[in-house]
Amino acid sequence: MTRTLLIDTDTASDDAVALIMALRSRDVRVAAITVVAGNVPVAQATSNALFTAELCGSDVPVYSGAEAPLLRKLVIADWFHGADGLGDHGYKPAKRRADPVHAVDALIQTVRENPGIEIVTLGPLTNVAMALLREPKLAALVKRCVVMGGAPCCEGNVTPAAEFNIWVDPEAARIVFRSGLPLEMVGWQLCRGGAVLNPHETERVLALKNPIAEFAIRCNSTAVEAFFKQTGQRGMSLPDPVAMGITLNPALCSASSEHYVEIEVSSELTRGMTVVDRLDVAADSRNSDAWADTVERERKVHICWSLDIPKWKNLLFSALG
Ligand code: RIB
Ligand code: CA
Repeated sequence: MTRTLLIDTDTASDDAVALIMALRSRDVRVAAITVVAGNVPVAQATSNALFTAELCGSDVPVYSGAEAPLLRKLVIADWFHGADGLGDHGYKPAKRRADPVHAVDALIQTVRENPGIEIVTLGPLTNVAMALLREPKLAALVKRCVVMGGAPCCEGNVTPAAEFNIWVDPEAARIVFRSGLPLEMVGWQLCRGGAVLNPHETERVLALKNPIAEFAIRCNSTAVEAFFKQTGQRGMSLPDPVAMGITLNPALCSASSEHYVEIEVSSELTRGMTVVDRLDVAADSRNSDAWADTVERERKVHICWSLDIPKWKNLLFSALG
């Protein structure tokens, strides 16, 4: 039976490659793309999603959503992805417009119409949080929700403590992590090291000589520069395609375990930190009241600790081929 997928995205360069993987997969039907402000303002992210869908020859409905986090000012990542989010190569906007329905309404409606749906989030969790606030029962209709976000027991990419998608809207993330959704967390640490596409591999993709492969590499040109400045590592880091790979084929997550997770929303120092109870000490409530109700009421989160890199790269290359 074909699996149904909803993708929530702040479409910039790595999101675009993840969209290509889903839209060209024979294993899933993408029922909707809902767009959220994050890497770039939501209007630009919506335009990027429409452009990518058109490039893939897909008429999947695209819905524009939250223009800012629930409580905070939007902070974009144009320093990483370029002003247009796609490396500033002047891609012409798609002919098609976004659907007039708001992304939050579309998210609720799509889940209601497709019980057992799988959701993958590639941006800040503002749309998903708003949908859950409106319709808490939504969580029970979702088979799995893969979240590209967080830095489980490791360093962040936007502050020492936090990964961008969670940091941008930590209140939304806390709502989602406390919602009872069956969450699978794909942290930023999985897209570094061996998972980075080296120059030889990007050449291999370009040698596929098709417009989609060429776009996938070219739109990430700014991100490659920024990643080198940020980490000293040369190559193309693709967090959203890693999350999409695990969504399409869960076996790509080669090591995982279930833990309580809390999101920091009060401290500016650790804003957006995904605090993962890896040793299961939270259950011993003598240690801290802060975790007492987590243990009571929350669902553990499936944390992915390692990626089957060769399998993931093969999936990526075949999606671009
Ligand atoms: O931290 C990486 C994540 O933040 C990716 O989803 C990237 O597209 C940005 O949204
Ligand atoms: Ca993203």
